[in-house]
Amino acid sequence: MTPVTEAVRADTAYDEVVPDEAWREEVRRLAAERDAVLLAHNYQIPEIQDIADHTGDSLALSRIAAASEASTIVFCGVHFMAESAKILSPDKTVLIPDARAGCSLADSITADQLRAWKAEHPGAVVVSYVNTTAEVKAETDICCTSANAVEVVASVPADREVLFLPDMFLGAHVKRETGRDNLHIWAGECHVHAGINGAELADRAAAQPDAELFIHPECGCATSALYLAGEGAVAADRVKILSTGGMLDQAKETKARSVLVATEVGMLHQLRKAAPGVDFRPVNDRASCRYMKMITPGALLRSLREGTDEVHVAPEIAARARGAVQAMIEIGNPGGGE
Ligand code: 13P
Ligand code: SF4
Repeated sequence: MTPVTEAVRADTAYDEVVPDEAWREEVRRLAAERDAVLLAHNYQIPEIQDIADHTGDSLALSRIAAASEASTIVFCGVHFMAESAKILSPDKTVLIPDARAGCSLADSITADQLRAWKAEHPGAVVVSYVNTTAEVKAETDICCTSANAVEVVASVPADREVLFLPDMFLGAHVKRETGRDNLHIWAGECHVHAGINGAELADRAAAQPDAELFIHPECGCATSALYLAGEGAVAADRVKILSTGGMLDQAKETKARSVLVATEVGMLHQLRKAAPGVDFRPVNDRASCRYMKMITPGALLRSLREGTDEVHVAPEIAARARGAVQAMIEIGNPGGGE
């Protein structure tokens, strides 16, 4: 294990950095020196979550980034999240510790594909999940996250067609909740959440009949959870379809002794901290997002020391995307973050 002082001498040595006390002190010192605020998504590794100034879901972190007084934002999350911060705060320096941290869901639609889809539905309102590139956001009317997708779509006049993208499972959830027939859904998915399937959930729920189910709406099993409730296999009030921040709020309130969690496994850290008396178990313990896990202790240290990787969004793209992202942060529930 290489101590921080030695690790910073050569670039490759960042791979060896361990999140010990010396690392924590150095990260805090460098953040203060750079006037940087550290934001961490709920799927980050526990050590990164614990050192951040704020953790939260993507909606809460967007709001915190927009309101922050710091001149630099270090976004420990994936690239589209850091881009959203840059779109909202073009004059700030936005860093992501590893710019290769992408998102398979954001990659499931390009700006050209969206332009072609819009041409098939002239006059439709485009609602894009925040898990999209800046170029796609520039073609969007309103962005949303899983925390406010239902409210965003409900804010669109009932007689207007809506193009919802890119996540088909979240789209199905929004369609169910709003009862809209004129909602068209792009067939994209997140490889991590799509892999949490209904059969696995049904098995787990049968083995733990008293457990509550916390399900992220990107999951392939969200529909199965509602089906189980409809069939009476699980009491309907035990099924909660929630953003990652919504899961945290619910964890603080739940009376259940055990909870089955269907989302990326990084979420378990915040849940266990929020409610230590509750037994939180993953529905699928292999549901780990390799992009989120690219933000390692060494990558964060390098980012603060060297000012890398800086996030840039072309000014004309940012200007076109800003209204859609701004509308998103103003609509709906608070999101979960602290
Ligand atoms: P939340 O908006 O619920 O934090 O989710 C973000 C995400 O990337 C889900 O995979
Ligand atoms: Fe993207 Fe899925 Fe990873 Fe979330 S969990 S960042 S949607 S790939």
